[in-house]
Amino acid sequence: MKEVILESVNLSKEYMSTGTGVVRVFHNISFALTRGDIVALTGASGSGKSTLLNILGSLDKPTSGKVLLENEALNELSPEKLSQMRNKKIGFIFQFHHLLPEFTALENVMMPALIAGTSDSASSRRAEELLTEVGLAERMKHKPSELSGGEAQRVAVARAFMMQPSLILADEPTGNLDEINSMKLFDMMLTLAQRYEQTFLIATHNIELAKRATRHMHLEKGVLSEAGT
Ligand SMILES: Nc1ncnc2c1ncn2[C@@H]1O[C@H](COP(=O)(O)OP(=O)(O)OP(=O)(O)O)[C@@H](O)[C@H]1O
Ligand SMILES: [Mg+2]
Repeated sequence: MKEVILESVNLSKEYMSTGTGVVRVFHNISFALTRGDIVALTGASGSGKSTLLNILGSLDKPTSGKVLLENEALNELSPEKLSQMRNKKIGFIFQFHHLLPEFTALENVMMPALIAGTSDSASSRRAEELLTEVGLAERMKHKPSELSGGEAQRVAVARAFMMQPSLILADEPTGNLDEINSMKLFDMMLTLAQRYEQTFLIATHNIELAKRATRHMHLEKGVLSEAGT
């Protein structure tokens, strides 16, 4: 039996909206991700992919149900413990890179380690290694505004892997890239995920990319189902 990394137990989410009343996004979603699972999450626009990822990553709260990361219930943690957990155990990659504009690529990748109290030298060594792995050895001193969209996204990927988190959540990481760069970035993420035996959940609209994952989950009308890959 593979080690369970993430468990979602009867997760439901409703939004109260002033205009439309209650928006029921999904209801009683339960699933488990084990170490090394690379899972593509598909679903039409508005089906709740981002909402689900945000809840799994503790950036948002479910209306009911719970999330367990390495057997710890996120809703039972103190705010301090929760932010530590987010820093060390979860890596995020978004559609737009969310890099800090005033820092270089290297500094951006080092940031999670510096926040966790890792020394400057150890952080920069690891960040340099990762940036080299994603093909950016020549761009480490560039600020985000001096990088192409695909390069900035590769920096965001390196940053997400920096702490060797248990789980990486990616919300349409290739949504902003052309087809060739999407494929390249996707392959790069898969290679890194396999190398580090990372559990990876990727929301994507791209069915061709979804097919390259080891599992495929689909969200439709508030229900999550496991699709064949
Ligand atoms: N803060 C909010 N208040 C009310 N409704 C919301 C809020 N945030 C999201 N929703 C609604 O919840 C549903 C799910 O949104 P979500 O962003 O999770 O979809 P998605 O699958 O990520 O879509 P996309 O593919 O377009 O990114 C949508 O119908 C959206 O309108
Ligand atoms: Mg979304």
